[in-house]
Amino acid sequence: CGIVGYIGRRDATPVLIQGLKRLEYRGYDSFGIATVGSAIEVYKKTGRISDGESGAADLRGYAGIGHTRWATHGEPSDLNAHPHTDCSGRIAVVHNGVIENYGELKRQLAGRGHTFRSETDTEVIAHLIEEHYDGDLLAAVNATLPLLKGSYAVLVIAEDTQQIVAARDASPLVLGVGDGEVFAASDMTPLLEYTERVIFLEDGDVADLASGRCTIYHDGQTVERPIELINWCVEDTRKGGFAHYMLKEIYEQPQSFYETIRAGIDEHVRRMVTETDEITLVACGTSYHTALVFKYLAEPLCGIPVRVEMGSEFKYFTPPLRGLVIAVSQSGETADTIAALKMAKARNCPTLAITNMQGSTVTRVADETLLMRAGPEIGVAATKSYTAQLAALMEIVNLRCEGAFDDTLSHAHLAIGDVLLQDIKEAVALCSKAEHVFFVGRGPFYPVSMEGALKMKEISYVHAEGYAAGELKHGPFALLTPETPVVAVCTPGSTYGVMTSNIKEMKARKAPVIALGVAGDTELAEIVDIFIPIPNTHHLVQVLTASVVLQLLAYHTACALQRDVDKPRNLAKSVTVE
Ligand code: G6P
Repeated sequence: CGIVGYIGRRDATPVLIQGLKRLEYRGYDSFGIATVGSAIEVYKKTGRISDGESGAADLRGYAGIGHTRWATHGEPSDLNAHPHTDCSGRIAVVHNGVIENYGELKRQLAGRGHTFRSETDTEVIAHLIEEHYDGDLLAAVNATLPLLKGSYAVLVIAEDTQQIVAARDASPLVLGVGDGEVFAASDMTPLLEYTERVIFLEDGDVADLASGRCTIYHDGQTVERPIELINWCVEDTRKGGFAHYMLKEIYEQPQSFYETIRAGIDEHVRRMVTETDEITLVACGTSYHTALVFKYLAEPLCGIPVRVEMGSEFKYFTPPLRGLVIAVSQSGETADTIAALKMAKARNCPTLAITNMQGSTVTRVADETLLMRAGPEIGVAATKSYTAQLAALMEIVNLRCEGAFDDTLSHAHLAIGDVLLQDIKEAVALCSKAEHVFFVGRGPFYPVSMEGALKMKEISYVHAEGYAAGELKHGPFALLTPETPVVAVCTPGSTYGVMTSNIKEMKARKAPVIALGVAGDTELAEIVDIFIPIPNTHHLVQVLTASVVLQLLAYHTACALQRDVDKPRNLAKSVTVE
């Protein structure tokens, strides 16, 4: 979910709606806003903001809060959409996070006569604040927060007060400081339009926001939090003539890869990554795949043992840990990854965050941060952040190999640029007719295949599986038919021979094979149905070019099937609950 707040000299409604659109990647099953003018007014609706925003146009006030939802407690519905209000409708709350003890709180509140309208955990917050409210909103919020167990970023407004009370604990919240106006949001993207000055709140902070003033409290005492400057600009968030953000972001990869390599690695991080004799990476989703690619590159090239763990498993089944722990997260806010990182800290491991998001939670938790330079990624499916993560991780491989890949990495963006215009129409036609598609590769191309399959299922809804090529014969062969394409990444190297044998086995089971191989590989081209050439480069770079071709395959298949590419069903870009 994403939340946004505004207080200042402008009409709040358009600022909130615009801000929510920027946060829509965090969830988009319903949205809502509340403003405080002469009274609290609320508008909330199931569905996308662009479909329902006109209904909110009448809301008046110079202060307000908004929310875009990714359902956790209660199905997407108008009633479950935020903001939630108390019984009297004098208090409105938006919330990102999960209140774990809401069931018990709800029973107690109902016993004291409160009537609930939604199935959400959030509504209890509104009712609790109501019980403590006697005209002093800050005091009422302060009395409520200790009763909540779980995670929250909340924004609260009340009738008769021109203020927003904001609080965070284990969910992100950023303040934007303008001229006579203050903004609050789950991340800095809604603020880019208005100010470059931001304050990242810490867990346990409560902020009292009014026009041109923001006072931050921690443990009841006022605290100063530094104002930081945002390193992104608003132009980076525009679609720039592309049909989808995803396509724009795919095309931005030569630049974002190059920028990430160019930014280099600072001295602290250098020492950290070169002095350790074991590395564990924790990550989820696409970031988990980049972590796996790193394992396949770093172990043979640098001889260092690398372990890769899913954030969601790590917290509950923590392995014995030695050496550096790296959390890889585009958003820096994935709850499972943060929980894993905290576990690693509790075990006294040195920790490093690799993230795209300045000021995000992982940067606060980890000892050191390596910021990748992908710029804002709006499409829900990760593309340029994936290759920028690979840039950061390949730079670590390079450091440990004493700069052996300096030249390879500083030219890699050119090869990425080369594959952007690759003709893949035939492959798209095949995949868009298929019910199932397998993606296979060996070594680093195995996680590349897993990522290719993830992209395909995320945005085209075609069922896809990423497999280690040699494993397909141990079960999935039963599923191969003339209607089940296999996408195989087969590049020169020690596994080339065994890969071509695997491809022949698949062909013998009548599966159409789409192969990615190096330009000029006629031997491979002859045994497969569709051959897609990638530049004949170092295999570090082939990892990148093959990945980009698979992104394009998923993208064009999704377009052929008329899917909602930038906002696939049921997903959110940043999942801030465990
Ligand atoms: C969500 C997104 C994925 C992403 C994953 C991890 O599930 O839909 O695209 O890979 O979260 O996100 P992170 O921000 O931690 O890289």
